[in-house]
Amino acid sequence: QSIFRGRHFINLEDFSKEEVDTMLEVSFDLKKKFAMGVPTPYLKYQTMFLIFFEQSTRTRNSMEAGIAQLGGHANYLDSSNMQIAHGESAKDTAIILSRFGHAIACRYCNWGLGNKYLNEMAKWSTVPVMNLQCDLYHPFQALADLMTMKEKIGDLKRVKVSIIWAYAESHKKPISVPVSQVLLFPRYGMDVVLAHPKGWELPDWVIEQARANAARYGGTVTVTNNEEEAYEGAHVVIPKNWGSWVNDQTGATTVGAAKVVDEKLMAHRSWKCTEAKMALADKDVMYMHALPADRNNEVEDSVIDGPHSIVYDEAENRLHTAKAVMTLLMGGR
Ligand code: CP
Repeated sequence: QSIFRGRHFINLEDFSKEEVDTMLEVSFDLKKKFAMGVPTPYLKYQTMFLIFFEQSTRTRNSMEAGIAQLGGHANYLDSSNMQIAHGESAKDTAIILSRFGHAIACRYCNWGLGNKYLNEMAKWSTVPVMNLQCDLYHPFQALADLMTMKEKIGDLKRVKVSIIWAYAESHKKPISVPVSQVLLFPRYGMDVVLAHPKGWELPDWVIEQARANAARYGGTVTVTNNEEEAYEGAHVVIPKNWGSWVNDQTGATTVGAAKVVDEKLMAHRSWKCTEAKMALADKDVMYMHALPADRNNEVEDSVIDGPHSIVYDEAENRLHTAKAVMTLLMGGR
């Protein structure tokens, strides 16, 4: 029996370093086979339910294309068109969908609700539940980021990666991308720098866990309010979202939510990623971004379209990592 089969994929911390290594190996293998046109029908006749409470381009399509390439089928479900909208519980939804198919995946980013909802589904589901992004974690994104850095750099020990993005817990916005990155990258011996203005700290438990991971695997974790310190000598920079001044009032990311200028973010508009800041980094620095990027406010076109940007390779790897996780958790008999 596979050590992966039937497990939930909510947080990469639930998987050992060796298990994450296996996910990467399978991702690289699937990427090679995709490029060569080698069929990979590992999930033939399997059905996966994809529940989205919010919009998506990369996540939805990497899962849908991915399972089709594995010989299975995805059912896209907009939560607003399900009985969830009338209050049907996570328990009932999970039990019913478990009886219809082979896996359930869900994106629910609302602060204080998303992770709880996924864990409640996982408690009742008899098939794997996969996290397509919640308020706390975005494991598929972090895994694709890791794959991309391994692909470009190889051994990641002592590689300086600067995550120039963090939302304060008090701001009630999803912190899933920086949390997943700051927890995962030290497990590969990377020197992780988390930079943000004062008052935008990640929760203490995240930094404590990231530092424990670094101590175990030989990486480091530095938290700074100094943006220049983050860029200086960095091999990889991941600056995101400081320029996104317009946000909805509730912290929700649902379609049609009222948009207002976010004064708190606007106060930090100078944190935009510029060519001048990139010049402080290593000469071969790589610019990464989970996307979508706010080209007006958070990064100069000359950076995101420039020679240091690897954002499309990073997005492409969402497909291969998604296929690897589905194959391991749903297949692997
Ligand atoms: N990076 C990411 O999750 O993209 P989507 O929101 O388009 O899925």
